[in-house]
Amino acid sequence: MTPSAVFEEYRDAARSLLAGAAAAEGRSAPSAFVRTFGCQQNEADSERLKGALNSLGCVIAEEPDDADVILVNTCAIREHAENRALSVIGQFKHLKAVRPTLVIGICGCMTAEPHRRDQLKHSFPYVDFTMPPASESLLPKLICDAFADKRSFIEDAAPQTEAVRPYRGESFKAWVSVMYGCNNFCSYCIVPYVRGRERSRPAEEVEREVRELVAAGCKDVTLLGQNVNSYRGGCDFAALLDRLCRIEGDFVLRFMTSHPKDATDALIDVIAREPKIARHFHLPLQSGSDRILRQMNRKYDRARYLSLVRSLREKVPEIAITTDVIVGFPGETEEDFLDTLDLLRTVRFDMIYAFIYSPRKGTPAAEMPDQIPREVQNARFDRLLALQNAVSEEINSAMVGKTFRVLSEGPSKTDPAVLAGRTDSNKLVLFEGNAPQGVFTEVKITGAEPYALRGTEE
Ligand code: 5AD
Ligand code: SF4
Repeated sequence: MTPSAVFEEYRDAARSLLAGAAAAEGRSAPSAFVRTFGCQQNEADSERLKGALNSLGCVIAEEPDDADVILVNTCAIREHAENRALSVIGQFKHLKAVRPTLVIGICGCMTAEPHRRDQLKHSFPYVDFTMPPASESLLPKLICDAFADKRSFIEDAAPQTEAVRPYRGESFKAWVSVMYGCNNFCSYCIVPYVRGRERSRPAEEVEREVRELVAAGCKDVTLLGQNVNSYRGGCDFAALLDRLCRIEGDFVLRFMTSHPKDATDALIDVIAREPKIARHFHLPLQSGSDRILRQMNRKYDRARYLSLVRSLREKVPEIAITTDVIVGFPGETEEDFLDTLDLLRTVRFDMIYAFIYSPRKGTPAAEMPDQIPREVQNARFDRLLALQNAVSEEINSAMVGKTFRVLSEGPSKTDPAVLAGRTDSNKLVLFEGNAPQGVFTEVKITGAEPYALRGTEE
């Protein structure tokens, strides 16, 4: 049976069970609450889960208290993310106690780990089901089972279905998944185990979705994949970008994430050629030490990374480059760490996302000797951030006095007195002005911080 058929088969039954549960409490329609942890891919998966819930008649609630269905979309990338999800799941116990018809489902990467599935099954008896990432076609059946008091703990992901339309909270920007899964098996990373092998969506489907978004007024589209550079949906990733740039309209096209081993000249050339593509490249480095890169199974070295950066800057001088760095990988010596600091000084990234290595059960790195003590990891992490903050502030300060196009996101969430927005290079700008959400405007930069620019609308 196709995934769409699986979804359709149980849709009406789930719909009427949910409608009945809401009616029994005097509400006109059932409601659903989805809590998301982790990366943009997970945010995009949650939009698909919400879309599936929507087509089961649910309104999407901002709070869990009155919901008929609660889904927690989990992340497994680091232990901290798993602990936070488990603690949030724990808080839903009392809701189920007062409302036994409440359906509680746990989705996402953590549920694809056998030991976590067992833990959820045995230590969280109020959880009705778990399902692996991007398996929303199974949702109607799992909800029906929950109403019949049958608990399910699904091991294998269902294939994607185009039957479900993502539910997007904001209309001016959108995430579009172009591929799922990862084939790279970096030695520290759980993703290939929990998200499975790479599957690319056909280019026609991606194009159709982006066309519809742009026609509906979307101004900022981010193409998502664990490694977009190995996209193979009938063409390669550079050709996909080229094709999407032919769509008429005023919008920015972003993408993440790129693996340095697969970034091609064709990709750099299309960025240089196409003004619609963001002047931003996220290129995860992970470590500046060739020895550690080998241990990480990253399949590139410092020289290859530096030559990519050189070529990017030669062809697209205004490009902002950001990266991911892991500190405290097993066996990382002071010398290895100094190599990472040295590479940061050489490249001068606009921004970095720094992570302390977290052992993931089942990955090769978790079994490696010489795990680094926490105090050493913390001290290296602080040194890394201190260096990078100084670099980011210098780079941002050089933007003061210049004017950039900014897409307004409306009032800032942290300071509603100013507007927030992003430049084409993805820099956060907090600015004074009137541009409504979803409108491009010109902003003169008046101040710089490591993580944000300040400005005034021209
Ligand atoms: N520990 C710490 N950071 C990790 N990442 C992936 N796996 C781990 C881990 N086990 C980081 C990498 C990746 C980013 C999404 O998360 O830097 O690029
Ligand atoms: Fe993890 Fe490496 Fe795949 Fe990225 S490329 S998801 S770090 S295995």
